[in-house]
Amino acid sequence: MTRPGSDSSDSGAGAEPGGGFEAVWARAAGVEGWLSEGQARLLHHRASGLPPGAVVVEIGSFRGRSTIVLASAAPVGAEVVAIDPHAGGDRGPREIAPEAARGQADLAAFEANLAAAGVADRVRHVRLPSAEAGAAVNGGIDLLYVDGAHRFAPARFDLAGWGGRVRPGGTMLVHDAFSSVGVTLALLTTTFTGAGWRYAGRHRSLAEFERVRLTLGERLADALRQAAQLPWFLRNLAVKALIAARLAPVARLLGHRGGHWPY
Ligand SMILES: C[S@@+](CC[C@H](N)C(=O)[O-])C[C@H]1O[C@@H](n2cnc3c(N)ncnc32)[C@H](O)[C@@H]1O
Repeated sequence: MTRPGSDSSDSGAGAEPGGGFEAVWARAAGVEGWLSEGQARLLHHRASGLPPGAVVVEIGSFRGRSTIVLASAAPVGAEVVAIDPHAGGDRGPREIAPEAARGQADLAAFEANLAAAGVADRVRHVRLPSAEAGAAVNGGIDLLYVDGAHRFAPARFDLAGWGGRVRPGGTMLVHDAFSSVGVTLALLTTTFTGAGWRYAGRHRSLAEFERVRLTLGERLADALRQAAQLPWFLRNLAVKALIAARLAPVARLLGHRGGHWPY
């Protein structure tokens, strides 16, 4: 698989002033995955601000990096549901076709990593594709983290179907936003045009949306704020093209270091 690069400069300073995150990140950072420290900090901050009894849903858990952050930060009594078929497909950059052995290895690593981090009993894993997992969660969602299949159709389903279950005032965090083509097209057809989300900003490719009802004027302003991210999206496409053409050093000219896909 294409491994993510380490990026120690990505501290995401400012998102979480307390000391809790550092201890959590010490347990999650060694788990393979595509979540930067700054992005993890934002997940931690949002999960730790939830009320007891909140419902947290993660779509796309891989080997547990983000799951550990969410489960460690969520308050006691919160329900944390991790949805991932662990079928070895739609797994990482250019790893689209399912591959059973790869999925089994991911599942074994996911379970071992959650146990090592001490959060195994705080997470309910649903081993299904998100499109088939709707009945596994009752009612509304307070925090939704979307990082499953990045192709347009499943990504759109996650944003529209699962996103539609986020309670008013709730939060949706979307990974690989304005970076993956499928996820960005899915955003264009949901959060850009809908009245139900306010774009709250992004940490690299981790975009945050608040569940609110916008007026027509607010919708327009919000769509423009999202459209302003498109130059960064085009830059990421160029970086990916350079990496695919084995020209990763040239991607440095675009401010990208390391041979890993931007995220
Ligand atoms: C990019 S990885 C997730 C990384 C993870 N969030 C982390 O922090 O390390 C994508 C994951 O989505 C899962 N996936 C693929 N198709 C899916 C689907 N239809 N529903 C839910 N998860 C899916 C894959 O098995 C894979 O583990």
